[in-house]
Amino acid sequence: MTHDWLAGRSHGLHGTLQVPGDKSLSHRAIMLAALAEGESRIEGFLEGEDTRATARIFGQLGVRIETPNPQTRIVHGVGLHGLRASAEPLDCGNAGTGMRLLAGLLGAQAFDSVLVGDASLSQRPMARVIRLLDRMGARIDARDGEFAPLRIHGGQRLHGQAIDTAVASAQVKSALIFAALYAEGETVITEPRPTRDYTEAMLQAAGWPIEYGPGRVRVQGGGRLSAQTFRIPADPSSAAFPLVAALLVPGSDITVTGVGINPRRTGLFDALRLMGADLQFLNPRRQNGEAVADIRARSSRLRGIELPEALVPDMIDECPIFFIAAALAEGRTRATGLAELRVKESDRLGGMARGLRAMGATVVASDDAIEIAGGALQAADIDSLGDHRLAMSFAVAAQCAAGVTRIRDCANVATSFPGFIALAHASGMRLDPAVNPAGA
Ligand code: S3P
Repeated sequence: MTHDWLAGRSHGLHGTLQVPGDKSLSHRAIMLAALAEGESRIEGFLEGEDTRATARIFGQLGVRIETPNPQTRIVHGVGLHGLRASAEPLDCGNAGTGMRLLAGLLGAQAFDSVLVGDASLSQRPMARVIRLLDRMGARIDARDGEFAPLRIHGGQRLHGQAIDTAVASAQVKSALIFAALYAEGETVITEPRPTRDYTEAMLQAAGWPIEYGPGRVRVQGGGRLSAQTFRIPADPSSAAFPLVAALLVPGSDITVTGVGINPRRTGLFDALRLMGADLQFLNPRRQNGEAVADIRARSSRLRGIELPEALVPDMIDECPIFFIAAALAEGRTRATGLAELRVKESDRLGGMARGLRAMGATVVASDDAIEIAGGALQAADIDSLGDHRLAMSFAVAAQCAAGVTRIRDCANVATSFPGFIALAHASGMRLDPAVNPAGA
């Protein structure tokens, strides 16, 4: 069966839209609810493949999770020491967040575990977490010391450490924090640039002794987690696609409601404003401690920019859609400090450069930088590399190109944004699944 999409020029996006729940928060809510004492409720859960894989894994580890409706989970927490071994490997699917955070958590358990993932996840670097967890006393074997499957040897005594993560990665930081819950003494983590602080905020809300600020965390081992009600906002990374489409397609005006605007996630919106975007955060409010707003986007004439490198960690998942905006802006855009894009669900720097060139853009990419000459795009045949964010980014690009663009291998959009095609249609984008040839 093919999972290609066909996309064409839109005549305008309109309306008020709701996008699915935040992926990062959904993974963490399942994990913290499972380790809490008592019943937690998760509302706004992302019913995507990545987060369902994490929920399934906790089922294998002995946690009862009910699904009264697709966006709600009721988790019967087993306490910090209540997880049970799984006889079967634990399959994280496509999810780096699932695998890396679980490596920290499972490295601290009394039992052994094996973490596996799909073809993409099995090629992503894991030594960045394994090496640092090793310093805390965890023992994890990986294929070639780097890749999944991860064989985690339980029954180790972990001890608190002062650790500098060396890479700006919330996944690495959070893996260490999960291990630190079980470690003797205090763990102090510093990172080269501040990354999303969700694990820290959620632990604090659950009553754990933790102190944190931009780029640093201090966490005590040994404590208890209280059950909570989590109300997860809409994912800014998902909201980014219709919002950028509305900026780019003339005559558009859309509002995406209830979007998380934690400053560690809003780098794209800052960058787009520097380009001249008409973006407004309406009705700002707090939801479970997280900042949330309705975001309105109206068609804008965008200008190319030198992207401030400090914004990159705050828009790490939005770089692909930012490159689309750059390709349709007036003038040149340059971005540096992008090495991490090479090791996401695909090589996003390479994949975006190739796809944009196929659509007629002039793009120069190096190991960790890109320069894009803005102009018009034309329809093309694009390989998404099985990467959800590349697929959706090129679907947006195609809204501004004459002719029909085919985007290949889009099934993984279900990892983060189930219902993307329906939402795209409802807002005025032109996007359809390609019809399968008979017998395919
Ligand atoms: C995430 C952190 C980021 C991001 C990913 C989700 C998280 O990864 O790209 O989609 O939930 O902590 P890195 O930690 O590898 O930067």
